[in-house]
Amino acid sequence: MFTFNSPTKIVFGEGSAALAPKELVAMGVRRVFIVTGPGRTASSEALGALKSGLEKEGLRHYHFAEAEADPSIATVARGAASFKQEGCDSILAFGGGSPMDCAKGIGVSVAEGRPIEDFIGTGLAFTKPLPPLVAIPTTAGTGSEVTNAAVFSLESAGQKAKKGTAGSTLFPRLALVDPLLQVSMPGALTAATGMDALTHAVEAYLSRGANPVADMVCLESIKLIGANLRKAYENGEDLEAREAMARASTLAGIALSQAGLGMVHGFAHAAGALGGLAHGLANAIILPFMMQSYLPVAESRLIAIGRALTGASTMSAPESAKAVAELGSNLGIPPNLSAAGLDEALRDVVFDDAKGYKRRGQSPRLYSDEELYALYLRIWSGSVTE
Ligand SMILES: [Fe+2]
Repeated sequence: MFTFNSPTKIVFGEGSAALAPKELVAMGVRRVFIVTGPGRTASSEALGALKSGLEKEGLRHYHFAEAEADPSIATVARGAASFKQEGCDSILAFGGGSPMDCAKGIGVSVAEGRPIEDFIGTGLAFTKPLPPLVAIPTTAGTGSEVTNAAVFSLESAGQKAKKGTAGSTLFPRLALVDPLLQVSMPGALTAATGMDALTHAVEAYLSRGANPVADMVCLESIKLIGANLRKAYENGEDLEAREAMARASTLAGIALSQAGLGMVHGFAHAAGALGGLAHGLANAIILPFMMQSYLPVAESRLIAIGRALTGASTMSAPESAKAVAELGSNLGIPPNLSAAGLDEALRDVVFDDAKGYKRRGQSPRLYSDEELYALYLRIWSGSVTE
C-alpha cells in the first residue's frame, strides 16, 4: 500500500510567473501578502512587474521582505502579525526556499492561531487550511513550491538548530515555476541549489518511504540534473539547461513530500544551523559519503541513480557515489566539511545535533550512534575516493 498526494497545481514554463495576478483573482482574494528575502529579489524587476500586475487586477498588496536565510521563528511571528495588521487574505511567496518556507510558517500561524514553534517537534498536527498560497521559486533546488514541508531556525538554551515540520496543509495552492526567473542566479548558487535538488531526488529514491510513483519522479529528476547542472553552472544564460533544472527541482520536491528524506539532510541541517553552511553546499558534500555507506543495502538503487545521472548503460554502485562526488567537484564543491571551512570546535556539536534528526529512521541503512559517528568523521575530513 502507498499514498501519492501532491495537490499543488503547477504551471510550468517561461513567463508563467506573470499569471499570478489572474490566478489570485480567480481564488477570490483581495489583499496579497508578498513574502521575499531582503536581498536582490526584493527589488527585482520581476517582482516589480508582479506588483504592477496585482494592481492592474485591483488587488492590494503588502510586501514583507524579511525572510532571511533559514527563517527564524521570530521572523515568522513578525510576518504573521503584519499579515493580520494589514488585513491580508492570501500569500505570494517569491524567492528561494527560505521565503517560501517563511510564507508557509506565516500561513500556519495565521490559520491555526498559534505560533509556528507549537508545531515543531511537538507532534501537534496542522488541521486548518492556510490562506491561499502561491509560490514562485527563483532558484532551482528547494522544491518548496510543491512540498508539504518547511524548515525554520530555532534557538534554545543558546544553541541554534534547524528543524523541519510537515503536514498536508503546507502544500502551496499554486506553484508558478518560471525558468526565466532563475537565469540570473550566480554560479555558486546554481551549484548549491542544484545539488540540493539532486539530494532530494536521491534521498527520496533511497528512502524507506519510497514508492513506485515517487521512484519515477526521482529518476527523471536525477537524469535532468546529470545532463544539465554543469551546463547551467557554466553558462547561466543557457535557457534550455535552466528550464531542465527548474523541472528537476520541482520534480524532486514532489518526490520528497511522498517518500521523505534521510541523514544527508540530518547532517546538513546541523551543519547549517551550527556552522552557517549553506544548505545546498552541505548536502552536496555529504551526499556521496552517505551513498557510499548504503552500498551493502541498496546496490540496485544506487546503480539506477548512477545510470540516470551519467547516462551510462552500465555502472557499479561504488561508481555511482563517485559520480556524484565528481559532479560536486566540477561545480567547485569542497570534498568534506572541514574543507568547507567549518571550525574544528564544531565537529562533535554538529554530530550531536544531527544524530537526533527526526527522519534518521527513513535512511535505507540504520546505524548505531557509534557507526554513524565513524561515518561522520569521514564526511568531516575524509574523501569519497579514499
Ligand atoms: Fe534540501
